[in-house]
Amino acid sequence: MCGIFAYLNHLTPRTRKEILDLLIKGLQRLEYRGYDSAGVGVDGPTSNANITLVKATGKVKQLEEKILENKEFLNFDGVHTVHVGIAHTRWATHGAPSDVNCHPQRSGENNEFVVVHNGIITNYKDIKQFLISKGMMFESETDTEIIAKLIKLIRIQNPNDGFRQLVEKTIAQLEGAFACVFKSTSFPGECVATRRGSPLLVGIKAESALESDHIPVQYSLDEDPRMVKHGASEVAGSPAPRKKTSAMFRVDADQTEEIHPSDGDSVEYFFASDASAIIEHTNRVIYLEDDDVAACKQGVLSIHRINREGDSSREITTLKMEIQQIMKGNFSSFMQKEIFEQPESVVNTMRGRINYEQETVTLGGIKTYVPEIRRCRRLLMIGCGTSYHSAIATRQLLEELTELPVMIDLASDFLDRNTPIFRDDVCFFISQSGETADTLGALRYCKSRGALIVGITNTVGSTICRESHCGVHINAGPEIGVASTKAYTSQILSLVLFALVMAEDRISLQARRSEIIQGLRQLPDLIRKVLDLDGKVLTIAKELYKKRSLLIMGRGFNFATCLEGALKVKELTYMHSEGIQSGELKHGPLALVDSTVPIIMIITRDCVFTKCMNALQQVTARDGRPILICEEGDTETMKWSEHALEIPRTVDALQGILTVIPMQLLSYHLAVLRECNVDCPRNLAKSVTVE
Ligand code: AGP
Repeated sequence: MCGIFAYLNHLTPRTRKEILDLLIKGLQRLEYRGYDSAGVGVDGPTSNANITLVKATGKVKQLEEKILENKEFLNFDGVHTVHVGIAHTRWATHGAPSDVNCHPQRSGENNEFVVVHNGIITNYKDIKQFLISKGMMFESETDTEIIAKLIKLIRIQNPNDGFRQLVEKTIAQLEGAFACVFKSTSFPGECVATRRGSPLLVGIKAESALESDHIPVQYSLDEDPRMVKHGASEVAGSPAPRKKTSAMFRVDADQTEEIHPSDGDSVEYFFASDASAIIEHTNRVIYLEDDDVAACKQGVLSIHRINREGDSSREITTLKMEIQQIMKGNFSSFMQKEIFEQPESVVNTMRGRINYEQETVTLGGIKTYVPEIRRCRRLLMIGCGTSYHSAIATRQLLEELTELPVMIDLASDFLDRNTPIFRDDVCFFISQSGETADTLGALRYCKSRGALIVGITNTVGSTICRESHCGVHINAGPEIGVASTKAYTSQILSLVLFALVMAEDRISLQARRSEIIQGLRQLPDLIRKVLDLDGKVLTIAKELYKKRSLLIMGRGFNFATCLEGALKVKELTYMHSEGIQSGELKHGPLALVDSTVPIIMIITRDCVFTKCMNALQQVTARDGRPILICEEGDTETMKWSEHALEIPRTVDALQGILTVIPMQLLSYHLAVLRECNVDCPRNLAKSVTVE
């Protein structure tokens, strides 16, 4: 998905080269989200009375090269004491990837207002029509351009408004999802950012201590921007807004009253779609809420909203993320690094939550809700893609340990129906990013019907986190590769921990709980052993990489591995791949089997072992030559194949965490051999913030 990065330096002198480097670096940190073009907007080379836009179709590297080619014109050595730079990576939705469709989008040829935008404006056609009727000319096919043009029109009609008020009036007209950062020649040194439905956070780096941990929200109840309709007559009649002074939140160590930074304090602000672009500059951030308008003027940040919904202040959070976590280190890709991080990421998911001696499990984020959850009518587990697979992987155990009906749903499909949801339902929303539009839509649907909402996410401060009543952070650490790997195993683990919590007071389930808890203790070492298969997996990948298709079969606790393995192969290698429930073979897929079609079968010695062996015989009887993922030393199974990947034995309910790793490694190697971009597969984005 698109990425936003903006940088404001106030009383912090920076050369233009430094500013451009910083913007490019910010975009590079967001590259993993997926994009097809990139652009920046900075003050003109010699004056802030104009804005220079540089755009490039393709990679950020190409934008960087274009900037370097124009270094004379861009006046690299010029110094700004106060400056606002905005930058964007675009993932095309309206109009093909091209320089003209790339952001920043502008209000007109003089670049008076420029904007970067993530999300989709659903009523852009109506607004565009209205703006055209006002004589405005459009140059791009984007929905974003209407934002830049609309603010310009509102400015003409409200010449006394400040930048923030203009943005408030503009967003009051927008429908859909957006995160935007605005820059203007009419308001040099000022920056306004806002969001609805798409994430946006503000990083603060100040010389003086930020003593307050909160910034108050200011309400504009008496300035109703909805007065400014895009119907001609109403626009003209909009009232003059009442002036308000901005809130100050930067507080000196020994005083509690607000201070103004024009007393000589330097401050830098960073605006970004996610924390990975900010963390190298500061760990102090504010997550904006829907409809917040954050304005920076004379170095002061203030947050405004029209209505009094939600909290009356925004917390300044300290990011726990480390810069090394978003670097590749010695690995060739983030995905490879993240696969190999799993022995540690599972430990981080379990850290502080399990007492192996007393066999207790504590999940602080849901602790107080557990009695209510135990009384519920049913559990619903909802997610997309890999996150949905983690629900499949754990449904069986959840049913067993909670003794409750467990429904699982793809968020998009859930939203396509009018699913009955009741006040005594407990709905789990599983999302690595915590921003997936479909999952969030399903969350809001269930919340509006009174269900208890539990978030299972990897991103602290994400929208799903904030909109859930309670939840579990999977603590897998930042996942940059578009293909989800360590988040998947940590999602499974978090749901296993939840199942264990639910069974804590069931005498009849204690032996089962104990077996799983002791299994969890061994898990990091077992994962290391599976990772040792990497060389063998590469050999198999060399045999498979020119094939067109790969079938992956299994059942029971391993069925989710088949679906997840197939998803990994598809998204990374662009080969066809299908996860098949072995029990379904005779109902259709068996027709695909012959001596040429590549097949992987997952067979572990659990309660469906005999059934899996039947499937294996059905496949080999049709000349199928499956590659096996089976248990260490299982010679009975291995004799049916030339290739077997032996994984260590663990409790059945945890087996899926081990069996998926060879599939992750295989898809990685296949992608490398097929010369595909491992971290940024074509057409895909890390965080899918549009439906
Ligand atoms: C997995 O490799 C994919 N990138 C994708 O299926 C992903 O899991 C899905 O888009 C859901 O994302 P989320 O977990 O951030 O909600």
